[in-house]
Amino acid sequence: MRRTVIAGNWKMNKIFSEAEDFFINLTEELKSKQVDEVDDLEVIVCPPSLFLELATDFSVESPLSIGGQDVSAESEGAFTGEISAKMLNSIQVDYCIVGHSERRKYHGESDELINRKLKVLLENEVTPIFCLGETLQQREAGETTDVIISQLKLGLQDISLAEDLVIAYEPVWAIGTGKTATPQQAQEIHQEIRAWLRENYSAEIAESMIILYGGSMKPENELELLQQPDIDGGLIGGASLDEEKFFEMIDIAIDFRG
Ligand code: PGA
Repeated sequence: MRRTVIAGNWKMNKIFSEAEDFFINLTEELKSKQVDEVDDLEVIVCPPSLFLELATDFSVESPLSIGGQDVSAESEGAFTGEISAKMLNSIQVDYCIVGHSERRKYHGESDELINRKLKVLLENEVTPIFCLGETLQQREAGETTDVIISQLKLGLQDISLAEDLVIAYEPVWAIGTGKTATPQQAQEIHQEIRAWLRENYSAEIAESMIILYGGSMKPENELELLQQPDIDGGLIGGASLDEEKFFEMIDIAIDFRG
């Protein structure tokens, strides 16, 4: 059976002292809930890159995993402002989000660039959280499946999936809007992604791939989403900023696994 993953994506939020307080309380919380003894539950936090080293200092002694929010497609060199996969690896960052719809929209990231970022992360042993999803316009035009398949095909071009990778289905119209895909809508796409992996890779890869849902996931809708057979957890934006809500979401996941 696949593990359940609860991943928080802070985006561009919190200052250093807030991040520090959050990690103090989160690691305490995970310890008191004995999360390291809950089989097959993983908690990930993806803070801004400035706080990654602080985060990995906390995660050393905790079942917590840490992820970056973006990475350069280049290995190293004269790329002002960029952060490399090798740097992420050098401070024990476990994961990195790639292809988030905000990067696609505000930074013009193409499928080709996303493919290069996925490759450079895999080469440096950082597990990518590969995001994909359709816009409202594409959904209304009945193009959802075509968009998802095209993002999968181009994003994963020449990638063997011999190493770990996590996929996050995030319908753009549900991100930060308070509008969640219904569990059925999300399940339908997760199932299509798994079917595509089965056809283009193998049954084994399709069955073992962690596919997260993202888009206004919160305590109120989490359980119903987790209960869908092809949804393995969530990539949580807004609700992951609030300690109370995020801890409640971890509790719901613990109960779900228990
Ligand atoms: P949201 O963000 O939970 O605030 O909708 C999810 C994401 O963008 O990863």
